[in-house]
Amino acid sequence: MNAEIYFAKALPSSRIRSDEDSRRTWGRDRTTSFKADPAAVLLPETTAEVAAIVKAANAGKFKLVPSGGRTGLSGGAVAGPSEVVVSLDHMNQIAGFNGPDRLLTCQAGVITQVVQQTALRHGLFYPVDFASVGSSQIGGNIATNAGGIRVIRYGLTRQWIAGLTVVTGTGDVLRLNHGLIKNATGYDLRHLFIGSEGTLGIVTEVDVRLAMQPEPQRVLVLAVPELAALMRILKAFSASIDLSAFEFFSELAMSRVIARGRGVRPMPEISPLYALIEFDESAEDEAMRIFEQMVTVGSVTDGVISRSDAQAKALWALRENISESLAPERPYKNDISVRIMDVPDFLVAVDRLVSARYPDFEVCWYGHIGDGNLHLNILKPETMAEPDFVARCHHISPELFREVHLRRGSISAEHGVGLLKRDFLGFSRSTEEIAAMRAIKAVFDPNGVLNPGKLF
Ligand code: MLT
Ligand code: ZN
Repeated sequence: MNAEIYFAKALPSSRIRSDEDSRRTWGRDRTTSFKADPAAVLLPETTAEVAAIVKAANAGKFKLVPSGGRTGLSGGAVAGPSEVVVSLDHMNQIAGFNGPDRLLTCQAGVITQVVQQTALRHGLFYPVDFASVGSSQIGGNIATNAGGIRVIRYGLTRQWIAGLTVVTGTGDVLRLNHGLIKNATGYDLRHLFIGSEGTLGIVTEVDVRLAMQPEPQRVLVLAVPELAALMRILKAFSASIDLSAFEFFSELAMSRVIARGRGVRPMPEISPLYALIEFDESAEDEAMRIFEQMVTVGSVTDGVISRSDAQAKALWALRENISESLAPERPYKNDISVRIMDVPDFLVAVDRLVSARYPDFEVCWYGHIGDGNLHLNILKPETMAEPDFVARCHHISPELFREVHLRRGSISAEHGVGLLKRDFLGFSRSTEEIAAMRAIKAVFDPNGVLNPGKLF
């Protein structure tokens, strides 16, 4: 049955698209190595319409791929042949603000940056932040439990979701937790849907908890001579300062940002690595004291601190623009994490492995090292075909993931499993855990209608 005609029973036909352009646009996320070829794109406006779509998909044996801002990096929103995309783009209304509870209630298609800006207008703060907030949607952030640059201080998206409305794979509507702070009435189903990558239900409405606004922030970028120094610097700064961010990037990463005109070299010195540290302005004197101490012991060779919001933004651009600056080179993305105490030894092991196994590729290091999350991007040589490149990286990935497994780390710290990491899930989750996950999937989506082939 033709999907466009079939779903007209659930949605006005003006919000069903099947032209090639729409199918190409809505059928994929930011990954490039998976084939997307959906049958149609559906644009619901309400939870009731989403429920009608899911019920119709069950009856007509269609498979649905939920789609937010399509900024994902693991193929979680790629729609395969004959699958039908359910885009939340038209569900972008802010329903209200509740001051006493510091709650913002909105539809799942609201852009993350709009959540941040609305919070500011109410004198509050939505702390989850990352480079793609201008395009990503809060519902997609929930589906992947998005992390980003301020996790060391504020945690992941999960921490800020106080209520959820989801349409399960059977088309049932669940309204979960209602914005409550305390609720000890059994299983907190909300947390099953957060991070489930659209495999259990489609998030349609959200209660977002907001934080108090922090003090104005200072950003410090440090030139760091070697990997081993990074964690010494983190230890020194975090001993007496409640850091908002602790990021790092390599000279290779920074040089790509600068080459693409997305940032300006912050200091004359060229260093193998840089750390970017953010903290409250009241901690500046203490930060300067630690900086000098780090220079004395040789862990830092130079540094620059922001004195205005504009300068802070310019320094952050060096880190936040890495992903987009590398994108034209079709990098193979690793997004791995270990506990902070294991990071020093992990970095040594990864460095050794990468030098031995990728001697002919450029490897770009960066990440949220303050929370144990390393982004290791292998850059595709210009002359190499993408399938060959991906196959070669896939062949080497198990060796990297064995190092992760040895330390009980994660093969996907924040980007999600999607299609890209699906075959490697066993490095982070036991057989019993995966069996439990499958059993949960069978409860909420017994016919396997939602996001088939993702996660496992
Ligand atoms: C980042 O930290 O820049 C994002 O996770 C995106 C990426 O790794 O490419
Ligand atoms: Zn990241």
